[in-house]
Amino acid sequence: MNRILPDDFIAETASVRRIRPGIVCMTFSAPGFRSLPGQFLEIEVSPGPFPVTRRPFTVNRLLPEGFEILFDLRGRGTELLSSLSPGSPVRVLGPLGNGWRLGPGKWLLVGGGMGCAGFSFLAGELEEPPTVLMGASTADRLLPFDDGDLRVITEDGSSGPRGRVTDLLPGIEPGDYRVVAVCGPVPMMRGVWLSLPPGHRRRVQVSAESRMGCGWGVCGGCAVPAAGGGYVKCCSDGPVFAGDELDWDRWTV
Ligand SMILES: Cc1cc2nc3c(=O)[nH]c(=O)nc-3n(C[C@H](O)[C@H](O)[C@H](O)COP(=O)(O)OP(=O)(O)OC[C@H]3O[C@@H](n4cnc5c(N)ncnc54)[C@H](O)[C@@H]3O)c2cc1C
Ligand code: FES
Repeated sequence: MNRILPDDFIAETASVRRIRPGIVCMTFSAPGFRSLPGQFLEIEVSPGPFPVTRRPFTVNRLLPEGFEILFDLRGRGTELLSSLSPGSPVRVLGPLGNGWRLGPGKWLLVGGGMGCAGFSFLAGELEEPPTVLMGASTADRLLPFDDGDLRVITEDGSSGPRGRVTDLLPGIEPGDYRVVAVCGPVPMMRGVWLSLPPGHRRRVQVSAESRMGCGWGVCGGCAVPAAGGGYVKCCSDGPVFAGDELDWDRWTV
Protein backbone atom coordinates (compact mmCIF):
# COMPACT_ATOMS: atom_id res chain seq x y z
CA MET A 1 0.00 0.00 0.00
CA ASN A 2 1.36 3.46 -0.81
CA ARG A 3 -1.49 5.65 0.33
CA ILE A 4 -3.17 6.67 3.57
CA LEU A 5 -6.60 8.20 3.07
CA PRO A 6 -6.91 11.96 3.59
CA ASP A 7 -8.61 14.03 6.21
CA ASP A 8 -9.45 17.74 6.26
CA PHE A 9 -8.10 19.10 9.51
CA ILE A 10 -6.72 22.10 11.34
CA ALA A 11 -3.00 22.00 12.16
CA GLU A 12 -1.30 24.48 14.43
CA THR A 13 1.82 26.27 13.22
CA ALA A 14 4.66 25.21 15.53
CA SER A 15 7.73 26.85 13.97
CA VAL A 16 8.81 28.86 10.92
CA ARG A 17 12.51 29.01 10.04
CA ARG A 18 14.36 30.44 7.05
CA ILE A 19 16.95 27.66 6.64
CA ARG A 20 18.50 28.93 3.40
CA PRO A 21 18.04 32.11 1.37
CA GLY A 22 14.49 31.77 -0.01
CA ILE A 23 13.86 28.35 1.59
CA VAL A 24 11.57 27.93 4.58
CA CYS A 25 11.10 25.02 6.97
CA MET A 26 7.75 24.95 8.78
CA THR A 27 6.56 22.50 11.38
CA PHE A 28 2.97 21.93 12.41
CA SER A 29 1.35 20.30 15.36
CA ALA A 30 -1.31 17.78 14.29
CA PRO A 31 -1.69 14.95 16.82
CA GLY A 32 -2.47 11.63 15.17
CA PHE A 33 -1.32 12.78 11.70
CA ARG A 34 -0.07 9.94 9.48
CA SER A 35 1.38 9.88 5.98
CA LEU A 36 3.51 7.72 3.73
CA PRO A 37 6.60 9.15 2.01
CA GLY A 38 5.74 10.79 -1.30
CA GLN A 39 2.22 11.76 -0.30
CA PHE A 40 1.46 15.47 -0.14
CA LEU A 41 -0.72 18.01 1.61
CA GLU A 42 -2.97 20.76 0.27
CA ILE A 43 -2.45 23.65 2.67
CA GLU A 44 -4.67 26.73 2.89
CA VAL A 45 -2.10 29.50 2.86
CA SER A 46 -4.43 32.28 3.93
CA PRO A 47 -7.66 32.44 5.93
CA GLY A 48 -8.81 35.25 3.56
CA PRO A 49 -10.46 34.72 0.13
CA PHE A 50 -7.16 34.89 -1.83
CA PRO A 51 -5.35 32.85 -2.99
CA VAL A 52 -8.46 30.80 -3.80
CA THR A 53 -6.74 27.43 -4.03
CA ARG A 54 -4.64 25.69 -1.44
CA ARG A 55 -1.00 24.93 -2.23
CA PRO A 56 0.53 21.42 -2.46
CA PHE A 57 3.58 20.49 -0.36
CA THR A 58 5.37 17.19 0.16
CA VAL A 59 5.67 15.93 3.72
CA ASN A 60 9.40 16.37 4.42
CA ARG A 61 9.34 14.62 7.80
CA LEU A 62 6.84 13.14 10.18
CA LEU A 63 7.16 14.48 13.72
CA PRO A 64 5.93 12.70 16.85
CA GLU A 65 2.88 15.01 16.97
CA GLY A 66 2.76 16.52 13.50
CA PHE A 67 4.75 17.11 10.34
CA GLU A 68 7.36 19.27 8.63
CA ILE A 69 7.43 20.84 5.16
CA LEU A 70 10.27 22.56 3.30
CA PHE A 71 9.43 25.09 0.65
CA ASP A 72 10.77 27.61 -1.75
CA LEU A 73 9.35 31.14 -1.59
CA ARG A 74 7.80 31.32 -5.06
CA GLY A 75 4.87 33.71 -4.98
CA ARG A 76 1.98 35.03 -2.95
CA GLY A 77 0.91 31.70 -1.43
CA THR A 78 4.27 30.66 -0.05
CA GLU A 79 4.94 34.22 1.12
CA LEU A 80 1.67 34.25 3.11
CA LEU A 81 2.33 30.81 4.55
CA SER A 82 5.82 31.79 5.72
CA SER A 83 4.43 34.89 7.46
CA LEU A 84 2.38 32.81 9.91
CA SER A 85 3.39 32.87 13.57
CA PRO A 86 3.64 29.91 15.93
CA GLY A 87 0.16 29.12 17.21
CA SER A 88 -1.61 30.14 13.98
CA PRO A 89 -4.18 27.57 12.82
CA VAL A 90 -3.91 26.27 9.24
CA ARG A 91 -6.45 24.19 7.33
CA VAL A 92 -4.87 21.10 5.73
CA LEU A 93 -6.21 18.40 3.41
CA GLY A 94 -4.13 15.25 3.36
CA PRO A 95 -2.23 13.12 3.08
CA LEU A 96 -3.09 13.04 -0.63
CA GLY A 97 -2.07 10.89 -3.58
CA ASN A 98 0.07 7.78 -3.89
CA GLY A 99 3.52 7.78 -2.33
CA TRP A 100 6.69 5.89 -3.22
CA ARG A 101 6.17 2.17 -3.82
CA LEU A 102 8.25 1.02 -0.90
CA GLY A 103 10.09 -2.28 -0.92
CA PRO A 104 13.34 -3.96 0.05
CA GLY A 105 16.74 -3.54 -1.56
CA LYS A 106 19.03 -0.62 -2.14
CA TRP A 107 17.53 2.63 -3.45
CA LEU A 108 19.13 5.42 -5.47
CA LEU A 109 17.46 8.81 -4.88
CA VAL A 110 18.09 11.47 -7.52
CA GLY A 111 16.82 14.96 -6.79
CA GLY A 112 17.08 18.44 -8.20
CA GLY A 113 16.42 21.56 -6.11
CA MET A 114 13.22 21.43 -4.06
CA GLY A 115 12.58 17.96 -5.53
CA CYS A 116 14.71 16.68 -2.64
CA ALA A 117 12.06 17.81 -0.11
CA GLY A 118 10.73 14.54 1.24
CA PHE A 119 13.94 12.54 0.73
CA SER A 120 14.58 12.49 4.51
CA PHE A 121 11.16 10.93 5.12
CA LEU A 122 11.65 8.40 2.31
CA ALA A 123 15.17 7.45 3.44
CA GLY A 124 13.92 6.85 6.98
CA GLU A 125 11.38 4.28 5.69
CA LEU A 126 13.88 2.25 3.63
CA GLU A 127 15.52 -0.93 4.88
CA GLU A 128 19.00 0.24 3.84
CA PRO A 129 20.39 3.79 3.78
CA PRO A 130 20.08 4.96 0.16
CA THR A 131 22.59 6.56 -2.14
CA VAL A 132 21.45 10.14 -2.80
CA LEU A 133 22.45 12.29 -5.76
CA MET A 134 21.45 15.87 -5.00
CA GLY A 135 21.78 18.78 -7.40
CA ALA A 136 21.15 22.48 -6.88
CA SER A 137 22.06 25.77 -8.51
CA THR A 138 24.35 26.83 -5.63
CA ALA A 139 25.57 25.42 -2.29
CA ASP A 140 23.00 27.44 -0.35
CA ARG A 141 20.15 25.81 -2.33
CA LEU A 142 21.12 22.26 -1.24
CA LEU A 143 18.57 20.79 1.17
CA PRO A 144 19.56 19.18 4.48
CA PHE A 145 19.94 15.41 4.31
CA ASP A 146 21.85 13.11 6.68
CA ASP A 147 20.50 9.59 6.25
CA GLY A 148 22.62 7.94 3.56
CA ASP A 149 25.51 8.20 1.13
CA LEU A 150 25.02 11.79 -0.09
CA ARG A 151 26.74 13.04 -3.27
CA VAL A 152 26.16 16.66 -4.24
CA ILE A 153 26.74 18.75 -7.35
CA THR A 154 26.05 22.42 -7.99
CA GLU A 155 25.69 24.40 -11.18
CA ASP A 156 28.26 26.98 -10.02
CA GLY A 157 30.63 24.49 -8.37
CA SER A 158 30.17 26.05 -4.89
CA SER A 159 29.67 22.55 -3.43
CA GLY A 160 30.80 19.35 -5.11
CA PRO A 161 31.70 19.34 -8.80
CA ARG A 162 30.25 21.91 -11.20
CA GLY A 163 27.32 20.60 -13.21
CA ARG A 164 23.84 19.11 -13.03
CA VAL A 165 22.69 16.11 -11.09
CA THR A 166 22.56 14.01 -14.26
CA ASP A 167 26.35 14.52 -14.52
CA LEU A 168 26.72 12.28 -11.44
CA LEU A 169 25.01 9.32 -13.14
CA PRO A 170 28.06 8.02 -15.06
CA GLY A 171 29.57 7.13 -11.66
CA ILE A 172 26.59 4.94 -10.81
CA GLU A 173 25.90 1.31 -11.73
CA PRO A 174 22.07 1.24 -12.01
CA GLY A 175 22.03 -2.55 -11.61
CA ASP A 176 23.23 -2.05 -8.01
CA TYR A 177 19.87 -0.49 -7.12
CA ARG A 178 16.42 -2.02 -6.95
CA VAL A 179 14.73 1.39 -7.31
CA VAL A 180 15.81 4.68 -8.83
CA ALA A 181 13.58 7.36 -7.28
CA VAL A 182 13.60 10.69 -9.09
CA CYS A 183 12.13 14.07 -8.18
CA GLY A 184 12.81 17.56 -9.53
CA PRO A 185 12.15 19.73 -12.57
CA VAL A 186 10.75 17.82 -15.56
CA PRO A 187 13.83 18.39 -17.80
CA MET A 188 16.02 16.97 -15.04
CA MET A 189 13.78 13.94 -14.56
CA ARG A 190 13.70 13.36 -18.31
CA GLY A 191 17.51 13.58 -18.31
CA VAL A 192 17.71 10.82 -15.70
CA TRP A 193 15.21 8.66 -17.59
CA LEU A 194 17.09 9.02 -20.88
CA SER A 195 20.49 8.47 -19.24
CA LEU A 196 19.52 5.07 -17.94
CA PRO A 197 20.01 2.12 -20.28
CA PRO A 198 16.47 1.01 -21.38
CA GLY A 199 16.90 -2.31 -19.58
CA HIS A 200 17.18 -0.46 -16.26
CA ARG A 201 14.25 1.95 -16.71
CA ARG A 202 11.78 -0.43 -15.06
CA ARG A 203 13.49 0.47 -11.77
CA VAL A 204 12.44 4.13 -12.04
CA GLN A 205 9.81 5.78 -9.88
CA VAL A 206 9.10 9.47 -10.45
CA SER A 207 7.44 11.97 -8.16
CA ALA A 208 5.71 14.24 -10.67
CA GLU A 209 4.79 17.87 -10.16
CA SER A 210 2.19 19.99 -11.90
CA ARG A 211 0.10 23.03 -11.06
CA MET A 212 -2.78 21.79 -8.93
CA GLY A 213 -6.27 23.05 -8.28
CA CYS A 214 -8.28 20.74 -6.06
CA GLY A 215 -5.56 18.18 -5.23
CA TRP A 216 -7.96 15.23 -5.12
CA GLY A 217 -8.92 14.28 -8.67
CA VAL A 218 -11.86 16.57 -9.46
CA CYS A 219 -10.71 19.59 -11.48
CA GLY A 220 -8.38 17.89 -14.01
CA GLY A 221 -5.91 20.76 -13.73
CA CYS A 222 -2.91 18.60 -12.93
CA ALA A 223 -2.96 16.30 -16.00
CA VAL A 224 0.35 14.73 -17.05
CA PRO A 225 0.74 12.87 -20.41
CA ALA A 226 0.42 9.12 -20.00
CA ALA A 227 2.36 6.47 -21.90
CA GLY A 228 0.19 5.06 -24.69
CA GLY A 229 -1.93 8.25 -24.97
CA GLY A 230 -4.25 10.23 -22.76
CA TYR A 231 -3.42 11.68 -19.40
CA VAL A 232 -3.05 10.74 -15.76
CA LYS A 233 -3.88 13.03 -12.85
CA CYS A 234 -0.80 13.99 -10.91
CA CYS A 235 -2.78 14.46 -7.68
CA SER A 236 -4.82 11.27 -7.51
CA ASP A 237 -3.04 8.81 -9.87
CA GLY A 238 0.33 10.08 -8.58
CA PRO A 239 2.24 12.06 -7.65
CA VAL A 240 4.54 9.01 -7.65
CA PHE A 241 4.43 7.05 -10.92
CA ALA A 242 6.49 4.27 -12.42
CA GLY A 243 8.64 5.94 -15.07
CA ASP A 244 7.08 3.85 -17.84
CA GLU A 245 3.56 5.09 -16.98
CA LEU A 246 4.43 8.55 -18.38
CA ASP A 247 4.93 9.85 -21.92
CA TRP A 248 8.31 11.56 -21.65
CA ASP A 249 8.11 13.04 -25.17
CA ARG A 250 4.83 14.88 -24.55
CA TRP A 251 5.56 15.91 -20.94
CA THR A 252 6.76 19.52 -20.96
CA VAL A 253 6.40 22.12 -18.19
C1 LIG B 1 2.63 17.22 -5.33
C2 LIG B 1 3.40 18.52 -5.15
C3 LIG B 1 4.28 18.64 -4.09
C4 LIG B 1 5.01 19.82 -3.91
N1 LIG B 1 5.87 19.88 -2.87
C5 LIG B 1 6.62 21.01 -2.71
C6 LIG B 1 7.55 21.09 -1.61
O1 LIG B 1 7.67 20.19 -0.78
N2 LIG B 1 8.29 22.24 -1.52
C7 LIG B 1 8.18 23.26 -2.43
O2 LIG B 1 8.89 24.26 -2.33
N3 LIG B 1 7.29 23.21 -3.45
C8 LIG B 1 6.50 22.11 -3.59
N4 LIG B 1 5.61 22.06 -4.62
C9 LIG B 1 5.43 23.27 -5.46
C10 LIG B 1 4.59 24.28 -4.67
O3 LIG B 1 3.28 23.78 -4.53
C11 LIG B 1 4.55 25.63 -5.38
O4 LIG B 1 5.83 26.20 -5.41
C12 LIG B 1 3.61 26.58 -4.67
O5 LIG B 1 2.29 26.14 -4.87
C13 LIG B 1 3.76 27.99 -5.19
O6 LIG B 1 2.72 28.76 -4.60
P1 LIG B 1 2.81 30.35 -4.60
O7 LIG B 1 1.44 30.88 -4.34
O8 LIG B 1 3.91 30.82 -3.71
O9 LIG B 1 3.26 30.67 -6.07
P2 LIG B 1 2.31 31.12 -7.27
O10 LIG B 1 2.10 32.59 -7.13
O11 LIG B 1 1.15 30.22 -7.36
O12 LIG B 1 3.30 30.82 -8.46
C14 LIG B 1 4.57 31.49 -8.56
C15 LIG B 1 5.41 30.74 -9.55
O13 LIG B 1 5.84 29.52 -8.93
C16 LIG B 1 5.89 28.50 -9.90
N5 LIG B 1 5.04 27.38 -9.45
C17 LIG B 1 3.88 27.47 -8.80
N6 LIG B 1 3.38 26.24 -8.55
C18 LIG B 1 4.24 25.37 -9.07
C19 LIG B 1 4.27 23.98 -9.16
N7 LIG B 1 3.30 23.20 -8.67
N8 LIG B 1 5.32 23.40 -9.77
C20 LIG B 1 6.30 24.17 -10.27
N9 LIG B 1 6.32 25.50 -10.23
C21 LIG B 1 5.32 26.09 -9.65
C22 LIG B 1 5.44 29.08 -11.20
O14 LIG B 1 6.59 29.45 -11.93
C23 LIG B 1 4.68 30.30 -10.82
O15 LIG B 1 4.72 31.27 -11.81
C24 LIG B 1 4.86 20.91 -4.82
C25 LIG B 1 3.96 20.80 -5.88
C26 LIG B 1 3.25 19.61 -6.05
C27 LIG B 1 2.31 19.50 -7.21
S1 FES C 1 -5.50 19.00 -8.99
FE1 FES C 1 -7.63 18.77 -9.45
S2 FES C 1 -7.65 16.86 -10.52
FE2 FES C 1 -5.61 17.04 -9.84
